[in-house]
Amino acid sequence: MKDKIIFQGKSKKGTEIIIRYPNKKDAKQMMDYINTLSKEKTFITFQGEQVTLEEEIKHLKGFLQKIKDKKGVHLLVFSGRSLIGISNVYLGQRTQKHVGLMGISIAKNFRGEGIGRLLLKNVINEAIVNLEELEILLLGVFSNNSLAYNLYREFGFIEEGRLPKGVKLKNGYVDHIYMYKNVK
Ligand SMILES: CC(C)(COP(=O)(O)OP(=O)(O)OC[C@H]1O[C@@H](n2cnc3c(N)ncnc32)[C@H](O)[C@@H]1OP(=O)(O)O)[C@@H](O)C(=O)NCCC(=O)NCCS
Repeated sequence: MKDKIIFQGKSKKGTEIIIRYPNKKDAKQMMDYINTLSKEKTFITFQGEQVTLEEEIKHLKGFLQKIKDKKGVHLLVFSGRSLIGISNVYLGQRTQKHVGLMGISIAKNFRGEGIGRLLLKNVINEAIVNLEELEILLLGVFSNNSLAYNLYREFGFIEEGRLPKGVKLKNGYVDHIYMYKNVK
């Protein structure tokens, strides 16, 4: 089946990008992407841990099934053949099946050129259009990640609460902020 392309165009800096849904051939690139991001020890849950190709293939299989079942959306950003960004929304289960947990990241060398904002706009739109049960978008952000926090605020996310010391890093703790946005 042909890949479902969501966006094709240029970043603010002129980088040609494509935003599309994943397919099962993307596992290796997705593994490399997350492992590089993890080594960077940026504002994500992975802080150096590495995933194997076997694990990533299993994860991706689960993602693809959820996308098919309308329980999730998952978007990849490519610059040429390089995977440079990922964002997703997955619905919870049972009493949480109306709540979509969102995540986003852009590769280090491509930050600050408007791709994160563009990806966020597209993933929210895809989630609203495709996930019929979705009523609330939910995300977690480290309290020292003011760039992401402000970006989410601009998209209408509201701080719902903070778990003091909810993030444990190698060199100490930061609070974990939970933010939500009603979409129905
Ligand atoms: C958060 C993240 C996804 C944003 O993506 P991005 O492509 O860098 O963001 P954009 O270029 O679209 O910028 C969005 C806004 O952030 C601000 N911003 C971006 N880069 C900035 C910089 N270098 N200095 C100050 N503000 C900056 C601006 O307000 C910008 O909006 P504007 O350019 O329209 O004014 C990306 O930085 C990232 O992956 N960071 C590491 C992982 C992470 O934090 N993920 C989120 C976990 S909750």
